[in-house]
Amino acid sequence: MNVIDLRSDTVTLPTDEMLEAIRNAELGDDVSREDPTVNKLEEMAAARFGREAALLVPSGTAGNLVSVMTHCVRGDEIFCEAEAHIYYYELGGMSAIAGVIPRLIKGRKGVYGPQDLDDAFRGRELHFPNPALVEIENTHNRAGGTCWTPKQVDDVAKAGRRLGMKVHIDGARIFNACVALSADPGSYAKNVDSLTFCLSKGLSCPIGSLIVGDEEFIGRARKNRKIIGGGMRQAGVIAAPGIVALTKMVDRLKEDHDNAKALARGLVKECGLKIDMASVQTNIVVAEVDANGAERFIERARKDGVLLSEFGRSTVRFVTHRGITADDIEEVLSRLSA
Ligand SMILES: Cc1ncc(COP(=O)(O)O)c(C=O)c1O
Repeated sequence: MNVIDLRSDTVTLPTDEMLEAIRNAELGDDVSREDPTVNKLEEMAAARFGREAALLVPSGTAGNLVSVMTHCVRGDEIFCEAEAHIYYYELGGMSAIAGVIPRLIKGRKGVYGPQDLDDAFRGRELHFPNPALVEIENTHNRAGGTCWTPKQVDDVAKAGRRLGMKVHIDGARIFNACVALSADPGSYAKNVDSLTFCLSKGLSCPIGSLIVGDEEFIGRARKNRKIIGGGMRQAGVIAAPGIVALTKMVDRLKEDHDNAKALARGLVKECGLKIDMASVQTNIVVAEVDANGAERFIERARKDGVLLSEFGRSTVRFVTHRGITADDIEEVLSRLSA
C-alpha cells in the first residue's frame, strides 16, 4: 500500500529541474553578497512583489523573526490574529528573542479588519507597551488556508499606519492566495513594510524563504539575519531551486486547490466529517472529527496509509501539494470511508 502524505505541503520534494539547477548553480559567499544565484533570486523576488529589495532566509520562522527584530525594539507590542502562526507555532520566538509582546485579535476565518485593530489598540499611554507592528497572515494556516484580499490587507495596513505602526505580512503561502484570488503579488506587498514568503511549501523547494521590503529595511534585516546565525555562505544551492520555483511552480498551485476542494467535498459526503466549506479556499482542509477523537482518527488513517496532522483535540488537517494527484484524493476517500 502506498503512503499518501497529507500532513503538510512542506513534505514536497524538489523537482528534477531544481536538482539540476542546484548542480549547475554559480556560487559565491553570500554573507559578502558574492553569490550570483542568491543575488538573482533576491532581485527576482523583489521585482515579483514590486518592492526594492529582498533577503533570503533559511525558513519562514526566520523570516518572521528577522522582520519583527527589524521593525521593533524590546518591549514593543505586536498585533496579530489570535491563532497566527507567529504566535501559535513559532515557540514564542518573537518574545524569547525579539523581546516583543503579542496582542491578539480574534479574526473571522483568519482575517480581521481596521475596526478590530482600532478596538485592540490601547494607545500610547505610560502603562502600555509601545504599539509597533501589525502582523497579517495570508493565507492563514490555522483558519484552513484562508485568504486575505488585497483590499482587506490595504484597509488594515492603512489603519496600522494611522496608529503609527509598521505592517508585516507572514505570506508563507502568499502565492496560494494570489492563485486563488487571481491577485498580483505586488497588490499585497505595495502598502505594507515587509512580507515574507516560503519557497519550501507548495512551491516544492527543499529550503528557503524570502523577506521583501525597501532597501533600507532589508539592509537592517540583513544584519539581524546575521545575528540569529542565518548568514549563509554558498547559499546559491538554496536559491537555484528558488528561481525554478518562482518561474515554474506558482501556477500549478491551482491543482492543489482543486484537489483540496474535491477532498473536502468527499470527506463530508463519504466520511461524514464536519468541514466549513467556505474556508476551503486553497490547499488546506481542516475537518472536525468525533469529540477528542483527533488522535484516534489520525492513527486509524495512518494504518490505512494516509498521513494527516492533528490540529486540535477534535480537528485534523489535510494539506494537498505537488506530491498528491486527483487519483490520490479518490484513494484517500476510499480508504477513509471504508
Ligand atoms: C503561515 C506560516 N508562517 C510561517 C511558517 C514557518 O515556516 P518554516 O516552517 O519555514 O519556518 C509556516 C510553516 O508552516 C506557516 O504555515
